[in-house]
Amino acid sequence: MESFIIETKQLTKKYKGQLAVNNVNLHIKKGSIYGLLGRNGAGKTTLMKMLLGLTPPTSGTFTLFDQTLTGHEKQLYPRIGALIETPGFYPNLTGTENLEIFARLRNLNASHTVKNALETVGLPFRDKKLFREYSLGMKQRLGLANALLHHPQLLILDEPTNGLDPIGIAEIRDFLKTLCKDHGKTLLVSSHILSEIDLLADDIGILDRGVLLEECSIKTLKEKNDNLENYFKTITGGKGIA
Ligand SMILES: Nc1ncnc2c1ncn2[C@@H]1O[C@H](COP(=O)(O)OP(=O)(O)O)[C@@H](O)[C@H]1O
Ligand SMILES: [Mg+2]
Repeated sequence: MESFIIETKQLTKKYKGQLAVNNVNLHIKKGSIYGLLGRNGAGKTTLMKMLLGLTPPTSGTFTLFDQTLTGHEKQLYPRIGALIETPGFYPNLTGTENLEIFARLRNLNASHTVKNALETVGLPFRDKKLFREYSLGMKQRLGLANALLHHPQLLILDEPTNGLDPIGIAEIRDFLKTLCKDHGKTLLVSSHILSEIDLLADDIGILDRGVLLEECSIKTLKEKNDNLENYFKTITGGKGIA
C-alpha cells in the first residue's frame, strides 16, 4: 500500500455557512513535493490551517504520519515546519535575532541552527538590517528559515515564493527541491501560479472554490494534456488559474 504522510478524508470547512473547503480527499506521498494549485480564494490557506491545527474542520478527518487527527492534537507538530501567509516577526530586531528567539523557544541550539537555516535560504547571518527594513522577499526567506529551524520531516508552505522576483523564485525552487531530493523531506506547497507548480512539484492537486478537481502526478497530467494552461481554463470554468 502507498504510504501517505498526509491524507484527508472528506475534509470540509465552512465559514458562516459558506464552503471554503468542500469534501477534499488529498493524498501526499512521503518524500515527494505536492503542489496545491488554486486561484485566490480557492481554499488553499484554509486547508493548510486545518492540517496545522490552526482552525478546526467543520467535518471530515485527516491523518498525519499515519495518525488520525481532528485538528486539535499537538504532539505531531514538532515534526512539521510551516509557513502560512506572510510570517510575523519582531519589526525592531534583525532577522538573526528574530530566529534566535524562535530557536530558544523550541529548545534548539540557537546560534548553530540559526546560522544553518539562514544559509539555506540565502540570508546573511548576523546582518544589522532590522526586520522592518526587509523587502517582502526577504521576509518570505526568513519565514522559510524559521520553518526549517527544527529540521522537520514535513513542510507545509503557503505560497512560499510570494513577493519574490524571478531569480528569487528560481533559487527558492531549487532549495525546496534539494530539501526533498537530498534530505528526504516531504513538502506540501501552495501556489496560484501554474508554471511554478509545474516546475516544482511531483504531484499536483487542483483546488477550485473549495473543491479538489484533480489529483495526479505532473507527469500524468502532461501526458494527458498537451497544453496545461488550456486544460486548467477548461476545468475551472474558463477562468484559468493564474
Ligand atoms: N477567517 C475567515 N472567515 C471567513 N471567511 C474566510 C476566512 N478565511 C478564509 N475565508 C474565505 O474562505 C475562502 C477560501 O479562502 P482561502 O483559504 O484564504 O483561499 P486561498 O488561500 O486559496 O486564497 C474565501 O472565500 C475566503 O474569503
Ligand atoms: Mg491563501
